[in-house]
Amino acid sequence: MVFPVVPLPASVTEFPGTLALTSASRILAGDASDATASVLREAIAARTGLILEVVIDAASAGDIELVITGAEGEAYDLVVDDRVRISGSAAGVFHGVQTLRQLLSGDGEDWSLPHVSIADAPRFAYRGLMLDVARTFFGVDTIKAFIDRAASMKINHVHLHLTDDQGWRLEILSRPLLTERASATAASGRDGGFYTQDDFREIVDYAASRHIVIVPEIDLPGHTHAIGLAYPEIVEAPVMNEALLAQAAELDQALPVAGEPYTGWGVGHSSVKIHDEATWEFLRDVLGEVAALTPGPLLHIGGDEAHGTEQADFDAFIARVTTLVTDLGKTPVGWHEAGSAPVAPGTIGQYWSSLSPDERVAGITRAFAERGGSVVMSPSDAAYLDQKYDADFPLGLDWAALIDLETAYGWEPTTIVDGLPEAAVLGVEGPLWAETLETPDDIDQLLFPRAAAIAEIGWSQKESRDWESFRARVRAVASVWDAAGWGGHRPAEIDWSN
Ligand code: ACM
Repeated sequence: MVFPVVPLPASVTEFPGTLALTSASRILAGDASDATASVLREAIAARTGLILEVVIDAASAGDIELVITGAEGEAYDLVVDDRVRISGSAAGVFHGVQTLRQLLSGDGEDWSLPHVSIADAPRFAYRGLMLDVARTFFGVDTIKAFIDRAASMKINHVHLHLTDDQGWRLEILSRPLLTERASATAASGRDGGFYTQDDFREIVDYAASRHIVIVPEIDLPGHTHAIGLAYPEIVEAPVMNEALLAQAAELDQALPVAGEPYTGWGVGHSSVKIHDEATWEFLRDVLGEVAALTPGPLLHIGGDEAHGTEQADFDAFIARVTTLVTDLGKTPVGWHEAGSAPVAPGTIGQYWSSLSPDERVAGITRAFAERGGSVVMSPSDAAYLDQKYDADFPLGLDWAALIDLETAYGWEPTTIVDGLPEAAVLGVEGPLWAETLETPDDIDQLLFPRAAAIAEIGWSQKESRDWESFRARVRAVASVWDAAGWGGHRPAEIDWSN
């Protein structure tokens, strides 16, 4: 029998026998309004049709008991015998509920859980998925749905790429023109949109109730064409050099024009004015509001693909903006290019180069650790969820690689950058860029099943990772995804017939 859980728990002991789940089973919570208990109740209802009561009571046979202990971190214990007991920190119990959800099996009428004892904890502190809402805008409900999918795989960070050349997606009260003038459009002529500050609060609250930290990204100093629709005085004229002209020709897209929405997806042509104090007033306003809206500790400042910016200017900008973020009480995060700069101590790098970096890229990535920070690994040829599965896949791009499920699963975050201490690898993230996405179903097509590979690399012990086991477990867990109404790709690497 396949053990039907992804990501694989740290320790599993199976015993003979099963526990029947029936409408008489109850969910015992320390607090009847406990969000985790309602998530479990809803998940069981959606899967089985059983509507379980959430009560505060002593457990009896057949019940599911959620016990929040004083423990820290994300570990949990889950025991199924004549009842179910999940214990740990609040986050741990939430993760245990996700495991329980996957352990449940049935024929549509009778539902049961295997007798088992699980002691589980994550390998890495940071397990993330990113959604690019700048190239395609997705509304609050779609973000919540994305959070649900992430939470089911024990992901604990959702990174929102909120701004880019194609649009600005977050209301900034002190800079109202950003959403008035720069949010209506997106890539490929699609409609844009934006989150009001109340929308954003709703997103962070929803995420928190699923033990997920939202990481907002304001991409700087490049990827800023949209800012120029609102505040043209602080952006440079679009840069055009040979590489950028060649890129536009290859993509067969129009060149960016100052003051007009940009709907292509060439990169590297835009920059804010790095030495102009008006830019820094703008950044204090914007990053100050983003920091105030974000309960989580992280604020991502981009830093990628500033191809039109001189190295010294770029480095000066990154040093100053990471210090600004630190002064706002947040830990800055930047794409790995930011490591060329003397970043504020503690800044986290997000590595997005290939599985085999050259020495320069390795060096600037190590620099985050040398300045007291750490690195999140998102190698673009393995972890980028926007890359096609195969050459014929209708969605996604292919500039980094074709990434089938085995490739998405088959990499190790601690050995990519030579000389980066293992302890400096904070975790992993699968970025989902949205140039080619139109609908929530498109998100699912690229997310499932590859996000499960990222989740397992981030959560499970290195020694336990095994492709044959993983693909068998993905096959089993897909029935939970199906029951939740989550679509997704069904790659031929898995036998879906049984
Ligand atoms: C990136 O893909 N430009 C981070």
